[in-house]
Amino acid sequence: MQALLESILDEVRPLLGQGKVADYIPALATVDPHQLGVAVIGTDGSLSQAGDADVPFSIQSISKVFSLVQAITHQGEAIWDRLGHEPSGQAFNSLVQLEFEQGRPRNPFINAGALVIADINESRYAAPVLSMRDMVRKLTDNPHIIADMVVADSEYQHRSRNAAAAYLMQSFGNFHNDVDTVLKSYFHHCALAASCVDLARAFSFLANQGRCLHSGNVILSPRQTQQVNAIMATSGLYDEAGNFAYRVGLPGKSGVGGGIVAIVPGRYSLCVWSPALNPSGNSLVGMQVLEKLTERLGWSVF
Ligand code: DON
Repeated sequence: MQALLESILDEVRPLLGQGKVADYIPALATVDPHQLGVAVIGTDGSLSQAGDADVPFSIQSISKVFSLVQAITHQGEAIWDRLGHEPSGQAFNSLVQLEFEQGRPRNPFINAGALVIADINESRYAAPVLSMRDMVRKLTDNPHIIADMVVADSEYQHRSRNAAAAYLMQSFGNFHNDVDTVLKSYFHHCALAASCVDLARAFSFLANQGRCLHSGNVILSPRQTQQVNAIMATSGLYDEAGNFAYRVGLPGKSGVGGGIVAIVPGRYSLCVWSPALNPSGNSLVGMQVLEKLTERLGWSVF
């Protein structure tokens, strides 16, 4: 595995320089786009990594999986009264569908859906920001995980689209807490910084029927694990979920920091990172790495 990862990174390195780092969050615009890393953890505990796999990056929307797990843990199926689990076919920060569909977001991974999940968690947790950070520390087995407050503040300063989504949902009665407070919690969890190795480790429970590999803790039931993987497969890459299923064929979740996590159910959790994005906001080189890897190893679940 190690040799395969190294050779795939060598193959895709010429593509570094294509794509564009996220600049709608100004603090992310300064990240060096030539970085590239990958880490794979097997359910047998094996770890393989290559490139910049230990360099922390802004996890951004990958954090939406953690917040969904928190909401499911406390509310179970009741969360689906507030949002759906259908692919949106729209950009991650689109507002058009939200008006047509009376303030009920299509799924928990588009920004509007993640904001409803953050609103649910705001009502359930005394200190949502700390609960999330502690959960990610436990899942990554890395007690040093922190949010990059420069990134969180930068997002807050440029919050208009997310604020618009939250206020629109509030106008339909689908937002219960103070919008600004929830936005701050949401930006904080998006600004958590973690490496490919951290995230491959953190998502081992989704490859392992809901049980965290290193701690043995039950994070989700086997059924809930299938359901979260299903939502990742259908909505984890926004308007590119179909392309990701076609090219990679795994449940996955991307973030505008350039990370993509993917799950080979029962076998592996992996994370690839390269900061420059394609027009859908997904790592351009990261997609190539995952496509080559799953093609060579026959990993597609389809
Ligand atoms: O709210 C935002 O726009 C960002 N904090 C997260 C967006 C994101 O990562 C979309 N992923 N590809």
